[in-house]
Amino acid sequence: MRGGTPFAGVVCLREVPFEAHFTPAREVGWRLAPEHWGKGYATEGARGALQYAFAALRWDEVVAMTAVQNVRSERVMQRLGMTRDPADDFEHPKVEKGHALRRHILYRIRPSDSRQ
Ligand SMILES: CC(C)(COP(=O)(O)OP(=O)(O)OC[C@H]1O[C@@H](n2cnc3c(N)ncnc32)[C@H](O)[C@@H]1OP(=O)(O)O)[C@@H](O)C(=O)NCCC(=O)NCCS
Repeated sequence: MRGGTPFAGVVCLREVPFEAHFTPAREVGWRLAPEHWGKGYATEGARGALQYAFAALRWDEVVAMTAVQNVRSERVMQRLGMTRDPADDFEHPKVEKGHALRRHILYRIRPSDSRQ
């Protein structure tokens, strides 16, 4: 937008919109434009979203997921204090079978785990 602030990205809270072994569940997600990576914005935004999910919405658990290869996103999950059980790994039902990004990891966090 002319004269507007450049768009940096999004952090969202939502119901997981597909069925898997861990659903129904609620997730936190993020996506930033590459020029805004490496500045801590994703972690800061997601930490605020988790605080809101637990304190205001009273959610009892939040998950986050990403393709196995997405190490940057996994590091955000770890910085948030989320934990992974490899037994939770899954094939994402909305990614085509055989696609390299189909295998996903799942991280979870509960209010009592929060470092906030
Ligand atoms: C996932 C994604 C948001 C991660 O971005 P990121 O920049 O690595 O994460 P953060 O915004 O939390 O920034 C953390 C980095 O900023 C650095 N940093 C620099 N200044 C900082 C500051 N003042 N405060 C905190 N961190 C800072 C940290 O050291 C860290 O770098 P490191 O991982 O190399 O140690 C980004 O890669 C992305 O949008 N990817 C595409 C979309 C995507 O994969 N979405 C998730 C799918 S589920």
